[in-house]
Amino acid sequence: MLVRSLQFFMLVTGFAFAQALWAGDAQLGKGLFPVCTACHGPTGQGNQAMSAPKLAGQEKWYLMKQMQLFQTNARGTAPGDMQGMQMAAMSKGPQLASAAALENLAAYIATFVDEPSPITVSGDSAVGKNLYPVCAACHGASAQGNEAMAGPRLAGQNDWYLVNQIKKFQKGQRGYHDSDHGGRQMRPMAATLTSDQAINDVVAYINTLATTQ
Ligand code: HEC
Ligand code: HEC
Repeated sequence: MLVRSLQFFMLVTGFAFAQALWAGDAQLGKGLFPVCTACHGPTGQGNQAMSAPKLAGQEKWYLMKQMQLFQTNARGTAPGDMQGMQMAAMSKGPQLASAAALENLAAYIATFVDEPSPITVSGDSAVGKNLYPVCAACHGASAQGNEAMAGPRLAGQNDWYLVNQIKKFQKGQRGYHDSDHGGRQMRPMAATLTSDQAINDVVAYINTLATTQ
């Protein structure tokens, strides 16, 4: 009996410990965030003047993955990608060098209120709706993200940022590195949008999905 309850206790505490490790420590993450606020805003809402996207509401696995891509030069090193280079430099601080630090940072970002982003892109959302089905396979029908396909949440993101990123995939400034499997999958998808108008239209449609989150 004693042995059984001891085993049970160890199971429960072991599980709780693993959960705590997995979840990251938001308090520790808070101490890492001040340097990010200059570009992403104090509550991670994004800042168009700095070309820095909203971080609030983005999924944790995706935030971590992007930080790791920047850290390993798989994102933000392509010629002409000034914004990516700025961010790559920010990802390489010694205090962010461990996976645990990135977990803590992502846990802190997860505490931010996910405010709606202002609408800045005008496009025809009805046309965009017909372009979106191909995207749904990896980003979800409501653009909510799909970790199994490595597709991030798009709904609620700054629309100007979505436009910028689609153009970067088209120009080969994202998804250019061998180890960036997700980005390499996304590149041919960006190529299906054959004009600036088509990009604006699909992004206008994604804007309509933000309210359904
Ligand atoms: C000097 C300005 C600046 C600072 C400081 C900065 N960033 Fe960024 N960040 C950017 C820009 C610009 C981009 C967009 C890069 C691009 O266009 O590819 C970006 C992109 C990102 C992305 C990718 C988001 C996505 O959806 O693709 C993440 C994650 C991120 N930053 C996290 C952070 C964190 C965490 C910090 C603090 C440790 C930080 N940034 C500090 C400018 C900055
Ligand atoms: C085969 C799967 C797949 C399809 C289909 C797909 N994407 Fe993606 N997309 C991805 C992946 C994976 C990423 C993340 C790449 C990375 O990790 O850098 C991504 C990233 C993006 C980003 C950057 C988001 C950010 O926060 O940085 C945008 C914007 C985007 N996709 C738009 C679209 C649109 C619009 C379509 C439809 C025309 C589409 N995608 C179709 C897989 C896909």
